[in-house]
Amino acid sequence: MSHSIAFINQKGGVGKTTLVANVGAWWGRQGYRVLLIDLDPQAHLTLHFHSGIDEDRRERSNIYRVLRGECAFAEAVQPLPDEMVSIVPSHIDLSAAEWELGQEVGREVILRDLLGAFLEEEPYDIILVDCPPSLGLLSLNALAAVDDVVVPVQAEFFALLGTAQLMRVIELVRSRLHPGLEWRVVVPTLVDPRTNLGRDVIQELEGHVPGKVTRNWLRKRVKVAEAPSHGRSIFSYAGDSPAADEFRKVCDEIAERIGIEVRPAVEPVRSDEADLEPPVEETASPPLSGGAPSGGKETAPPEAEAEPTSPTAVDPPSGARFEAPIDPTVPKSRPAAKEDPAPTPAPPASRIPQEAHPPAHRLAEAPSSEPAVEDAP
Ligand SMILES: Nc1ncnc2c1ncn2[C@@H]1O[C@H](COP(=O)(O)OP(=O)(O)OP(=O)(O)O)[C@@H](O)[C@H]1O
Ligand SMILES: [Mg+2]
Repeated sequence: MSHSIAFINQKGGVGKTTLVANVGAWWGRQGYRVLLIDLDPQAHLTLHFHSGIDEDRRERSNIYRVLRGECAFAEAVQPLPDEMVSIVPSHIDLSAAEWELGQEVGREVILRDLLGAFLEEEPYDIILVDCPPSLGLLSLNALAAVDDVVVPVQAEFFALLGTAQLMRVIELVRSRLHPGLEWRVVVPTLVDPRTNLGRDVIQELEGHVPGKVTRNWLRKRVKVAEAPSHGRSIFSYAGDSPAADEFRKVCDEIAERIGIEVRPAVEPVRSDEADLEPPVEETASPPLSGGAPSGGKETAPPEAEAEPTSPTAVDPPSGARFEAPIDPTVPKSRPAAKEDPAPTPAPPASRIPQEAHPPAHRLAEAPSSEPAVEDAP
């Protein structure tokens, strides 16, 4: 049985894309066939995994062209073996889709119908849709196409203002378009451990949407903000960090809440290190404080946010070994452990491979450069 989930909040910069990227990567590591759909014209999810994206192919085949009927769904799917997921990338042209598709009959269910037909041919286990920060036609298409909604909410003063509006839209979609739509999960994100405000907001949030707020939260972490500039999930960028551990717990709790079985995870063997390091056995993780089991690795205590570790090569079960494209940033003969000697400060844009830089006329597509807050205990 497949699960499809839209990550939605009309408020911008609350961590939707970051959550989709890392939830997908974690469930991919658990052996699920995961498809990510970037439904945001900003294409941040696509850019998050820039090192694995074929840019020429993205120009020809992307979610905009799929929705316009200009390319087949299957043509737009790009595998990201280093993260054990596939993605339907976005494109800045998608910004025109709101009014272009707005004229069509059945405009709110275009994605639902196209995705449904595609899944009959290619049965993915989990489909994650990254929504734009608006409640327009693209978000309605996402809500009509999925089974479940996950709402990331930034733990700050203004966070609650949009929640009532979002609830109304979800209810409207449920009553008019999709009675089976479930909303069971709200994830507090970007929690600043240095203030009490976050805790207060989360408490208030619990009053607004009782029973939906996860026990596990995502704090502001430098490593999380750095990972996209390396084209990686937190698990391959800093798998032993407290940030990765927090994401594992949140992912497992989301899985528990929406009925996805939590499985043991394996790390993919990245092409740029497959021949370099001997496989390392993955250690079992202690049970989660919140009760959800985890298949992840033991991590350092939060007091000691580890330097980004080299991605760990763990021998996957037979049949789970992936051939990955070459990462152009890493010379093939260099040991993986020396790959990122000191990525402590926010990495410069030059870490992004040249071909992944959006052309100047598409600067609007580039990820926002909200500064990450230093990790705190
Ligand atoms: N836990 C975190 N710690 C530190 N930085 C984070 C964390 N989560 C997200 N960020 C950073 O915050 C910014 C916004 O995150 P993200 O792009 O995921 O939000 P979004 O809701 O998808 O934004 P938009 O509404 O524009 O699509 C990004 O620069 C991201 O790297
Ligand atoms: Mg986003």
